[in-house]
Amino acid sequence: MDRLFKTTVLSALATLAFQPSSSPAQEPANQRMWSHFLAAADVQAAVTRGDLEATKEPATWLAEYDEPGLPDGSEAFVRELQRAAARAVEAKTIETAGAATGRIVAACGSCHREYKPGMEPTENIEPPAGDESDVATHMVRHAWAADRLWEGLALPSNAAWEAGADVFAGAPLATDDLAFDNPEGVRALENRTHELGRRAGLETEPSLRARTYGELLSTCAACHQMTGQQPAIEKLSW
Ligand code: HEC
Ligand code: HEC
Repeated sequence: MDRLFKTTVLSALATLAFQPSSSPAQEPANQRMWSHFLAAADVQAAVTRGDLEATKEPATWLAEYDEPGLPDGSEAFVRELQRAAARAVEAKTIETAGAATGRIVAACGSCHREYKPGMEPTENIEPPAGDESDVATHMVRHAWAADRLWEGLALPSNAAWEAGADVFAGAPLATDDLAFDNPEGVRALENRTHELGRRAGLETEPSLRARTYGELLSTCAACHQMTGQQPAIEKLSW
């Protein structure tokens, strides 16, 4: 997911070269937001992978993050983001970390709604094609849809949210494709993922969307743990 997500971001911000810097206050606003963005993406990628420990560093960065130069009056939203990130720092379970991630992404959206309205999704809202019965392809669609939900919350964008939810409204993987040690458990998590996606499609309220999104990420995590998957996530520096 992180890889797809970064591709999306890179294509949108292709003109910005990301430079890790020890003095973020001196960077132009766009670059500061970029590092902000990546820290949140790292928290989310770690949750999706089911790696609680790996959420801590980027979540701590976000919880301590304070940004001079944001629009006057937007400080309350920075606090909201910091509080959400602090919950991720304190989280003892992947479920709590998932819920905190939903709040983090919703906090991005709350501020943008007021101070940077009208941000557009970065990608054509057409789900990737492919043979749905194949586990890997199905996973790429999961990841694509989860990225649209992220954009739906963070930009925020109804069109992106609905596109993500639509993909999950499609059929879960068939039983025969789930040849794992615990097929019942895996199937339950797969069905749960799609149920949450359907619920996502009915929700309009940002706080409810954030909650569903958090539960969805925890479900991805649970299945990756159960099936022994570690979807590849590159380590970022920001
Ligand atoms: C306190 C308000 C606030 C919060 C919180 C916030 N942003 Fe932003 N964001 C802005 C503003 C204002 C801009 C427009 C900056 C500009 O145009 O220079 C922006 C722009 C962006 C952009 C576009 C950058 C560009 O070059 O156009 C991205 C991507 C972004 N934010 C991601 C995020 C993410 C992800 C989060 C949450 C982790 C987040 N933002 C949290 C206020 C906020
Ligand atoms: C039913 C169990 C299950 C659920 C639920 C699940 N995954 Fe997966 N995931 C897997 C398995 C198994 C693989 C390995 C697939 C393969 O490569 O054969 C995988 C692999 C991946 C990959 C790597 C794909 C690649 O490039 O090879 C990504 C990304 C991913 N999952 C994202 C997600 C996201 C995001 C969610 C939640 C919205 C999710 N997954 C939910 C079982 C699951």
